[in-house]
Amino acid sequence: MLQAGAKTLSVSRGISLGIRQHCNKTPGRLTGSRGISLVSIRRVWDKTPGQLTVSGAVSGEQLGAKVKVQGWVRSVRAQKANLFLHVNDGSSLQSLQVVASSELNDPLLTFGSAVEDFPFKIKERHSLEYIRQFPHLRCRTNAFSSLLRIRSEATTAFHSYFKENGFVQIHTPVITSNDCEGAGELFQVEPSGPDNEEEENFFSVPAFLSVSGQLHLEVMSGAFSRVYSFGPTFRAENSQSRRHLAEFYMVEAEVSFTQSLEDLTKVMEDMFRSATEHVLAHCAEDVDLFHKHVTPGHRVTVEAMLKKRFPTITYSEAIDILNRSSENFAFPTDWGCDLQTEHEKYLVKHCGNVPVFVTDYPYDLKPFYARDNQDHSEHTAAAVDLLVPGVGELCGGSLREERLDLLRARLEEAGLEDTYSWYLDLRRFGSVPHGGFGLGFERYLQCILGVDNIKDVIPFPRFSHSCLL
Ligand code: 4AD
Ligand code: MG
Repeated sequence: MLQAGAKTLSVSRGISLGIRQHCNKTPGRLTGSRGISLVSIRRVWDKTPGQLTVSGAVSGEQLGAKVKVQGWVRSVRAQKANLFLHVNDGSSLQSLQVVASSELNDPLLTFGSAVEDFPFKIKERHSLEYIRQFPHLRCRTNAFSSLLRIRSEATTAFHSYFKENGFVQIHTPVITSNDCEGAGELFQVEPSGPDNEEEENFFSVPAFLSVSGQLHLEVMSGAFSRVYSFGPTFRAENSQSRRHLAEFYMVEAEVSFTQSLEDLTKVMEDMFRSATEHVLAHCAEDVDLFHKHVTPGHRVTVEAMLKKRFPTITYSEAIDILNRSSENFAFPTDWGCDLQTEHEKYLVKHCGNVPVFVTDYPYDLKPFYARDNQDHSEHTAAAVDLLVPGVGELCGGSLREERLDLLRARLEEAGLEDTYSWYLDLRRFGSVPHGGFGLGFERYLQCILGVDNIKDVIPFPRFSHSCLL
């Protein structure tokens, strides 16, 4: 019976408590590590009770009702008359305390039956780095289960933002025959096995895992004024950095009838705020665990991010700021050089440790689709990056070159006119000014939680020399 106030499930004397064993390391004995025993607890009622999650039970749902709660026992404490079990089912950070009669105090339910070499200790706070070594087990820790709930809720938050703002979701393909960025970093897709050796390409053309859904979204933006996608993206970057993965999730949006970059920065900023407020409101406890114990003090940074509008500086202003600083940067800061992580982090600090937009990058640094600003002394393109505290670049986007003659000239120069003849068609057959951006979802989670390493915000990280499980 679920009781008020104490938020406990009490199981009184004489009522049978069915304990089903799912884990069979030692037959006939409960197994698990120090109380993270894998059991399901079932009270046997006269009639079938309603199923309730631990989260529902802890928040007092169905008080007084007969309920059935199933979960994993995280800890067991025996007193003279009673036995206290903490049961968790992944629905919340909190566990449900089950008070059972001491006659249930079977030796099977004590710590003594714990599996010796289980890598986590229930009462210890392990570092994210330590638990990362166990990708098949880390979801059983408080920190990583909180992370996974936050990740799930943040996914909902982005979808909600787009739904509320009139965007149509497009499932852009994972396998593609185009290279969106024109830069290497592609994984090629081929069937495996020896039979394939003499075959032609499976698709008759070289095919790759997508590095971005942008070009497919641009196709759709010829018929829908607001589209977005949210899916896995792949880059064969040989990087072990704290902000790069070979497989990551990207949120991408494309907006038609744009007048200036501001039309894009407004969507980027609104989306960031809306998603973050949603996550803070819906995952308060889980976020608190990070802000109090994993990355103490980060809450202040997040609150500061949400307080003011995000400032905008141009790339040329950014270069001035870097050149005026007394910092010794490892990479050059001449006009025309790409901004490196160290520069991005410096710029964020300089602007008050809040997200900052950097606009109008050198034309030659940007891919063929970026719109030419046609300025002359310092030739730039209408591109924008959003830089955020702790991470650096979170979003990259641009207005797209909608003018057929300019786009054709640039593709011709790069020898890509034939490859992208379909892309030129989008301009030939009724083009409108449009633009879009991509946000790295894992970097977003790093940013709001203060997590230093990107491998700690994705269930199964893939990066060069590592593809576990
Ligand atoms: O800046 P990027 O390369 O932009 C594009 O791909 C555009 N085509 C998107 C668009 O306009 N629709 O990537 C977008 C974001 C980056 O700002 C970064 O946050 C993230 O994706 N990102 C990565 N995240 C994790 N690991 C990697 N290897 C990443 N590469 C980019
Ligand atoms: Mg970029």
